[in-house]
Parts: sequence; C-alpha cells; structure tokens
Amino acid sequence: MQASATSFKLPHDEVIPILDFGGQTAQLIARRLRELGVFSWLVSPSITPEQLLAMKPRGIILSGGPASVYDKTAPTCDKRIFDLGIPVLGICYGMQLAAHLLGGKVTGADHREFGRAHLSISDAKHPFLKGIPDRTTVWMSHGDQVTDTAGLFKTLAGTPTCPNAVVISASPSRQFVGVQFHPEVTHTPHGIDLLRNFAYDICQCNGGWRMSDFANHAAARVRERIGSAQVVCGLSGGVDSAVVAALLHKAIGSQLHCVFVDTGLLRNGERDLVESTFRDHFKIDLKVVDAEKEFLTDLAGISDPQEKRRRIGHRFIDVFKHAAKSIPNASFLAQGTLYPDVIESGQGHAGTAAGIKLHHNVGGLPEQLGFELVEPLRELFKDEVRALGGVLGLPDQLIWRHPFPGPGLAVRVLGEVTKAKLDVLREADEILLEEIVSNNLYRTTSQVFAVLLPVQSVGVMGDGRTYENTVAVRAVETQDFMTADWSRIPYDVLATISNRIINEVRGVNRVCYDISSKPPATIEWE
Ligand code: XMP
Repeated sequence: MQASATSFKLPHDEVIPILDFGGQTAQLIARRLRELGVFSWLVSPSITPEQLLAMKPRGIILSGGPASVYDKTAPTCDKRIFDLGIPVLGICYGMQLAAHLLGGKVTGADHREFGRAHLSISDAKHPFLKGIPDRTTVWMSHGDQVTDTAGLFKTLAGTPTCPNAVVISASPSRQFVGVQFHPEVTHTPHGIDLLRNFAYDICQCNGGWRMSDFANHAAARVRERIGSAQVVCGLSGGVDSAVVAALLHKAIGSQLHCVFVDTGLLRNGERDLVESTFRDHFKIDLKVVDAEKEFLTDLAGISDPQEKRRRIGHRFIDVFKHAAKSIPNASFLAQGTLYPDVIESGQGHAGTAAGIKLHHNVGGLPEQLGFELVEPLRELFKDEVRALGGVLGLPDQLIWRHPFPGPGLAVRVLGEVTKAKLDVLREADEILLEEIVSNNLYRTTSQVFAVLLPVQSVGVMGDGRTYENTVAVRAVETQDFMTADWSRIPYDVLATISNRIINEVRGVNRVCYDISSKPPATIEWE
C-alpha cells in the first residue's frame, strides 16, 4: 500500500506507520505492533511529513535496511519527520539514518555484526527501558553503526562492540529513540517489551486495534482500487485463497467471481467444502470447472515427479485461462500472496510501487491475460491470515486446513497416476484424517497425509494370500515447512489407522509410518 493512499479511513485512531527501508524484518515490526493491539503497516520512505500528519500517527518507526547511509542510492526520508512533535523510533538503519540526517556520525565496520550481543543499560530511567533488566541479550545485524552522537543523542545502553546501542534525543523537544539491534525478532527476548514501551508509554497508545478493524480497512482499500471492475479469484481449497475470497466478497460483493478447478487430484470432500462454503454460505459466484479427464490424460504413463508437476502446471493454466475468459470484463486477478512470499521474492516497500508482485501463484497468468493483481494479504503472516479468516466467518475446517500441494494427489501416488490408484489413496487419506481429527491431533500436527507406494507385498487375509498395495502415513510438525520433524503419533492411534485402512480400503494390505525428518527427507514423497 502506498502511503499517499489515505483517502479511505484508517482502521484505528492509534496508528504507527513504519518507513520501510528494505529490511528483511520490517514487516515483523508491524506484526509485533499489531500483536500489541496497535495498527501498523509499512509505508514508502518517500512519504512526506504532510502525508504522515494526515494519518494522525501516534508514533513513527524507521525500519532497518541493507544499505549504508553513505551509499549513493541509499534510501532516505524527509528530515522534517523528526520535528513533527511525534515520537520516532529508528531501528538499525533507521537509527543510523536519523544520526546521519541530523548531524551525527555513522561509521562502517570492517565486519558485519550478526547475531546475539550482550546489552548493558547505563540509564534505566527512560520509559523506553521500563522493566528491561540491566543486562540482556539483543540480536544485531549490521555493518555500520553510530559512532559520534554529536551531542544530539544521549546513550542509554551499549554492547561491547556497539557503544551506542540505545540512544534518545538529547533535546526534549525531539522525541527520538534509536536502537542498533532488532527488537522485533524473538532472538531479542525483551524486544516485545521495548516495542510495548514505545507504543504505550512513549506514543500513548492504548492497544484497542483488532483484526476486525483490519478486515474493514482492507475491504475499503480493495473497494477503492477496484471501483466497478470485475475480479477473478482462483480458489484452491486452502486457507489463503479462501480468506482472499471472503475478504473480496465483503468488499465488492457480486463483482467477485471465483473459479475452482476440480483436477481429479483432490481429496474426498474437497470440492464439496469449497462449494458449500462459497456458493451456499457466502453466495459467491463460483465456477467449478470439471477437468479430471484432461489432467488424467496428461498424466497417463508419466512417473517422473517433475514431469508430473510440469504437465499439471500447464494444464492448470489452460483450464483457468479458459474459465477466466468467460467472465465478462474481468480485469483483476485476486491472489492469496502472504508476506513471506513477498519477502522471499526480494520485494520490500522501499522504493517500489506497492500492490504489484513479480512472482505469482498461477504461473504466467496475469501477464498472459492482462490482469492486474489484487493481493490483500501481502502484509500478513499465516497466523494473522487465519485470524482474519475467523473474523470473516470462514469455517474452522477451512481456516485450520493443513497445506495441500498444488499438484495434489498426483505427487502422493508414486509412479504413474491412474484414477483407480487415486481412489484407493483418497479412501486411505480420508480414514487417516478422520482418526487424526477424532484423536485431537489435527491442530498439533502441521501436515498429515497418506501416500500410495508403488510397492505390492504379500499378506494374509482370512485364509487367503494377498498381494496388494502399501500405504505410507506421513505426519510432520514444523514452523515454516523448510525443516520438519516426524510427529510422535501415539502407537494406539497408529494401530487404529493401520487397522482401519487395511480393513476398509480394498487393495491395501500394509501400512507403514514414515519416521524421516526434513532434511534429509522432504515432506512430500515426490
Ligand atoms: P517438501 O516436500 O518440499 O514440501 O518438503 C514443503 C511444503 O510444500 C508443499 N509442496 C508443494 N506445494 N506445489 C505446492 O503448491 C508443489 O509442487 C509442492 N511440493 C510440495 C508440501 O505439501 C509441504 O507443505
């Protein structure tokens, strides 16, 4: 969102905008303030003092960033911002920039200081340091630092390698606090307390902002941007696209048109859940495209996982493109891009036009179709998206869904994919999830699924010999899906899962439990 777009009402009267200088953790500052009940979001560093004043902010934060203040292209801000009578917190680059603009000296270090450092407080009386122990750990990530405060700042705390780690303005007429470390990361154990002190004690916030305010605010922003245009939204059955659809429906009602592609690679009940939620409950215009035949034809005879993904991706684009074309005058495509996707693709707010994303979830679509993208969740983290889904009235079943890969069950039927194999897997997967849910394990696990192995083994059922398929059960716990550990599902639950699958699913006589962590294994088998 661009800072100048303030004609809509801000979601609360307590707002603290963050000038984004491109730091990897800039959005985390906003998220911490929202956790504290204060509305915060990133704005362009080129914002003018007048634009800032129009927001009536309680405080202003200058984020960290990768540049050195001496770089020719270093992002900067209007130095009148320090004299608006509004408290300013400069974090890392934000602190250095303040010193640089106001007359202090910033010096480059020979080495980047990265990681934990020990902070010693020399003056604990300032409200910013209320309740912080005299010695505490902070997380540093910087090259330059402020080496001469030129009488502008008073130092409150330092570390052995960074004497000016916490500074305040020496003049009472200027309410500036600077920190060289990052209070927004969890590696700074009292970081949240420092941000609370800034927001509550220095900026005088009370913390009344809630996610429902965000829903109203985001809907107003979408309405303003879309006007009378029509919007297409691809639903996947996952939480992100579901929340986008619910939010857009709140914002623009019948101007929203959803498309759900039934690839034939979905789990049991998936299509029903999407239809009942969006068509029956929200009364959204939902087009369900039945494309099972096309997908299965493309996959016939293909065993290589990457080739499966490639074919599925291409077919998906074709089907979606065709469906989207039949929606008259659609000029926007809505996507459930979250903040981690944005930062992974290297796009902060610093100097970039907000609202446009270079990479997208449906490969190549906007460019090919001439759509503009709408990505109302790009400021949020996953758990915030879930909270927003709750506020918008989505069922828990959708909000708390484990992730499901785009290529669907095609990468869980190892080897060649056929409808018969998919049906076996669907049955096994349904039983597995029923047991996980009924044993209250769904919310403590991150992803649970069945895999149909291309392995047949000998068994005995009744008095007869069998030679049938093997199902592997995969259950993992993870924070970010980059690394994962296998879940310690209780033996008796595993026993029930195994018994039920073998007894109830025709063609399966053996169930294995996958006890590999990631790395070295991956979560999916293909
Ligand atoms: P891996 O198997 O790489 O999975 O450990 C990490 C997470 O990503 C999901 N996944 C995919 N999602 N398209 C997707 O949309 C894919 O091709 C794909 N492959 C894996 C996987 O389910 C897990 O949550």
